[in-house]
Amino acid sequence: MSATPPDATTEPLSTESAVRESTGDMHAARRARLMARVGATSAALVVAYPERNRSNDSNHPYRPSSDLWYLTGFEEPEAAMLLLPGHPEHPFVLFLRERNLKMEIWDGPRVGLERAREMVGADKAFTFEQLEEELPKLLAGRASLHYSLGVDAAMDDVVLKSYRKALRTARGRARAPTSIIEPGEALHEMRLIKSPEEIEAMRRCCEVSAAGHVRGMRVTRPGMTEFELQAEIEHVFRKQGARSPGYPSIVGTGTNACVLHYIENRDTLADGDLVLVDAGAEVDYYTGDITRTWPVSGEFNGYQRTIYDLVLRAQMEAISLVKPGLPWHELHECTVQVITEGLCDLGLLEGPVEKAIEDKAFKKFYMHGTGHWLGIDVHDVGAYAREGEKSRPLEAGMCFTIEPGIYFHPEVENCPTDFLGIGVRIEDDILVTEDGCEVLTRGVPKEPEEIMEIVGKDA
Ligand code: GLY
Ligand code: MN
Ligand code: MN
Repeated sequence: MSATPPDATTEPLSTESAVRESTGDMHAARRARLMARVGATSAALVVAYPERNRSNDSNHPYRPSSDLWYLTGFEEPEAAMLLLPGHPEHPFVLFLRERNLKMEIWDGPRVGLERAREMVGADKAFTFEQLEEELPKLLAGRASLHYSLGVDAAMDDVVLKSYRKALRTARGRARAPTSIIEPGEALHEMRLIKSPEEIEAMRRCCEVSAAGHVRGMRVTRPGMTEFELQAEIEHVFRKQGARSPGYPSIVGTGTNACVLHYIENRDTLADGDLVLVDAGAEVDYYTGDITRTWPVSGEFNGYQRTIYDLVLRAQMEAISLVKPGLPWHELHECTVQVITEGLCDLGLLEGPVEKAIEDKAFKKFYMHGTGHWLGIDVHDVGAYAREGEKSRPLEAGMCFTIEPGIYFHPEVENCPTDFLGIGVRIEDDILVTEDGCEVLTRGVPKEPEEIMEIVGKDA
């Protein structure tokens, strides 16, 4: 959500409809839409994430920042895009690295200033180092700047100095930005509704993610390590074109399944235990996000099956509700209702159900939300509620997860002995369609009979 209200001079959103992504350069179409949204008196600055050191002189593999990639397709670090809607000569200014043969021999090719127009569509290019000098001049005449403050302190410093310098230079005689607006309103609302190209990309990354899980189920056997299982799954991701997982894979067996962000993945799968796998493939910048929980031996015991069935019922009921118009929060209300009823029936929560919900007693065993937007980021951008709403109604083109879970962490006070250490989550990726939804991750089984059929088949 923006820190300040949207610019009052923003053009009506209906002007966007003139720009479609179905043909031509999808990044250019997105820039045109964004410019229509921010309006001709504003500017938008989107900056590449800095490279991150991993150890000594080795960096983490560079992953372009999602907003910058969405708008330009440009993949290099040390870059920034400035959009100046309505500018007669250069509405799209790109700051980037110069070409440097020595560095290109070590690290790979760079676009460079001379090729910025041909390769990225920029109307004007400067070096990244010139940003501090050029930004105040380029902002002259603009009333506001759309920029994400608080992400990159070094860049904030450059932007704030430029903002101050532009104001000083204008001295009230000319217009200079008087507000910095969080890009959520303009840019992240665009990312929330997936275009046809993005829907295809979501289908693809979800298919690859599902293929990894299916492989994981098939090779599971007692005595295997969590990291071996992780490797089997990620092998499929990479082989099918994923640049990497979209987030660190969680492979937790036994009580590790109760640690929501468990990523050590170094224990051994034991006969009789469950294993919980939360892993998704990032393919062409879009990521899947799937969780499945299955028995290491292929057979659920009675307690495990009871909890599994309850989580599955909650998940399926929530999925059955999805259609345009459904308020987002009703999905969580649905899973909470089903899970709380089930836990009360089992005597694991004290009733009545309404009171257990009101008191949030269910949080002892179900302590996270039901899902999140999904796209270029695993926890994708976009507001869950807009001004005056409890939560926003679903719209065709939105993608999100539905992922209820129940966890009996052994350290939790009075954890019921029979269920101690059981952790179950079931997560699918959902696309809202005109009349309902498409489960993008349906390629991986979740019915207990199907799971029992497939687990260990290729072990
Ligand atoms: N894998 C991250 C999540 O499910 O939110
Ligand atoms: Mn998720
Ligand atoms: Mn997940």
